[in-house]
Amino acid sequence: MKKITTISDLKKILQINREKGLSIGLVPTMGALHAGHISLVNKSVADNNVTVVSVFVNPTQFNDKNDLDRYPRTLDADTTLLEKAGCTIVFVPSVEEMYPEPDTRTFSFAPLDQVMEGPARPGHFNGVAQIVSKLFYAVEPDRAYFGQKDFQQVAIIRLMTKQLNLPIEIVSCPIMREDSGLALSSRNMLLSDEERKKATKISLALFKSTTFVPDKSVEEIKAFVKESLSSDLVFRMEYFEIVDGYTLQSVKSWDDASYIVGCITIYCGKIRLIDNVVYKK
Ligand code: PAJ
Repeated sequence: MKKITTISDLKKILQINREKGLSIGLVPTMGALHAGHISLVNKSVADNNVTVVSVFVNPTQFNDKNDLDRYPRTLDADTTLLEKAGCTIVFVPSVEEMYPEPDTRTFSFAPLDQVMEGPARPGHFNGVAQIVSKLFYAVEPDRAYFGQKDFQQVAIIRLMTKQLNLPIEIVSCPIMREDSGLALSSRNMLLSDEERKKATKISLALFKSTTFVPDKSVEEIKAFVKESLSSDLVFRMEYFEIVDGYTLQSVKSWDDASYIVGCITIYCGKIRLIDNVVYKK
């Protein structure tokens, strides 16, 4: 595995691979890697001749400076995991390398970015689009891999790729979970032992709620999930929405869409966790 820090070195080495007719997969990450990230790497390694994993904590997608400062950074451990997973190139640029000038581009993904994480984290998806588009231009991958855990992010990246006419296949990969059901997240390591135990209630409430569909209404399912998690003071619900999996707009009944997903963002103590579950597909 090669470790590369500049776009020009990355382009040089990828050009040689491309001339040999080799396919290239890209897995964008912010590091602090866990089995969820590695599942994306495994899929890319299976699908492509060359796998590039970027490790970059992107400042433009954090609307909260504390969140950016607190974000875990574990590059040595990440490198070991990537090497084992068969990654070909780990791309670890500096902030100056990715942003030699402030990125003034403004993207619009309406209506996808006007719900859920959009209003909850103003500027977040614009920052994600800035960095992912820069990575797409730098790597020019055949395929790029994203996790369904960040359900809205995948939808927005798909739209961005179309808006920019980029010939990149966006591959979305299933959510990896602990045995307890808790969705793996780099942020889980910031939870206390007590909080981590309690955080398992989130996925349990989501899973349980799927067993009531379609007998209970959308409103009843929303109330069930909210009530299941409101009893413990460690939790503060930011939103729980039941949406059309393609348009991300709220549905009122199970007949409103062919693909229906419940998306939750909830604070467990100070840590913001997200998860989702499919009700209909
Ligand atoms: P990060 O949070 O590091 O996640 C990198 C990728 O791993 C994302 O596509 C995310 O959805 C996926 N992922 C995280 N946890 C997962 C899990 N439990 N199961 C499956 N996949 C999981 O998402 C970002 O970084 C950034 O926004 C990024 C796209 C890199 C742009 O900066």
